[in-house]
Amino acid sequence: MAETLLDVRNLSTAFVNGSKKVTVVDDVSFSVAPGRTLAIVGESGCGKSILSLSMIRLVPDTARTVGQILMDGEDLAAVSPQRMRQIRGGKIGMIFQEPMTSLNPIMTVGAQLSEALKLHVPELNAAERHERAVEGLRRVRLPAPEAQFHRYPHELSGGMRQRVMIAMALSCEPELLIADEPTTALDVTVQAEILALLGDLQRDTGMAVILITHDLGVVAEFADEVMVMYAGRIVERGTVGEILSDPQHPYTIGLMGSIPRFGSDDRLLAIEGTVPALSAMPPGCRFAPRCVFAVPRCAGESPVLREVTAGHAVSCHFAPLEDNL
Ligand SMILES: Nc1ncnc2c1ncn2[C@@H]1O[C@H](COP(=O)(O)OP(=O)(O)OP(=O)(O)O)[C@@H](O)[C@H]1O
Ligand SMILES: [Mg+2]
Repeated sequence: MAETLLDVRNLSTAFVNGSKKVTVVDDVSFSVAPGRTLAIVGESGCGKSILSLSMIRLVPDTARTVGQILMDGEDLAAVSPQRMRQIRGGKIGMIFQEPMTSLNPIMTVGAQLSEALKLHVPELNAAERHERAVEGLRRVRLPAPEAQFHRYPHELSGGMRQRVMIAMALSCEPELLIADEPTTALDVTVQAEILALLGDLQRDTGMAVILITHDLGVVAEFADEVMVMYAGRIVERGTVGEILSDPQHPYTIGLMGSIPRFGSDDRLLAIEGTVPALSAMPPGCRFAPRCVFAVPRCAGESPVLREVTAGHAVSCHFAPLEDNL
């Protein structure tokens, strides 16, 4: 088996409101190897962001997480809050969709970078921190890094802010970068530049990346592995080649059919119906109400995620499809 950097086991997160409990991430297990990119895809609300926040213990106060998050032999679910703060921004870097929510509006870019370095690399003196922060801005190809150092986030364009976020996330040379829709807020050309930059930085540093995206074009270009989520559960996972060219779960097949073709009008071969409310999930397969292949068994019995070929796992009673349809 390949070397493992992160091993998530049976992770569930639920929002608790009085006596009501809504599970939004349901018994999710997966692993990420060093230097690899795992893409997480699925419709809006399926739990991608809450899953990534659960891994770094940044879920909202009303949420509860159970399960194991093993990294280099340490269970992040069990370490102290102080240790977790060291890991966040240390071994694990994070970038989010909207940099303004993560950057401090009243601190200059340079001060924020220096503060992160102070926390995670305390042995540096002030001059070394400054040098390393400017170097970090140069590495993300921010023009005139020395000048940007003294600017405030609102003085930068969206693309520049996202570069600053990446510089912050990479300043401590993380082993794992979690990028939640890192480019959705940017226009298409800037998106492409930022993603190319991330790819280059990953090659230089050897870090692993968990990339959350709606964009299957981005998946095809950047991912090694893909995990497809539906209503809080993993429905399929495998290598990017298998998922894109031989999807087995009816939901994944639907997703692949809904890739908008560039410049064409026949955009969405959308999957009929909507995701059931998480508070009122059917007892069996959660996709059954929308699935064209569903039989009565699907509504009553939850399928388990099982391998159909080595490394390609599907949660459907009928997988592998070619044998069963
Ligand atoms: N603070 C909260 N309180 C209660 N429920 C929440 C909260 N935040 C998220 N949820 C619910 O958790 C579920 C998963 O949300 P999440 O943000 O992880 O989805 P997502 O897959 O990241 O969607 P998107 O693609 O739109 O970013 C959703 O049903 C959402 O309504
Ligand atoms: Mg999200």
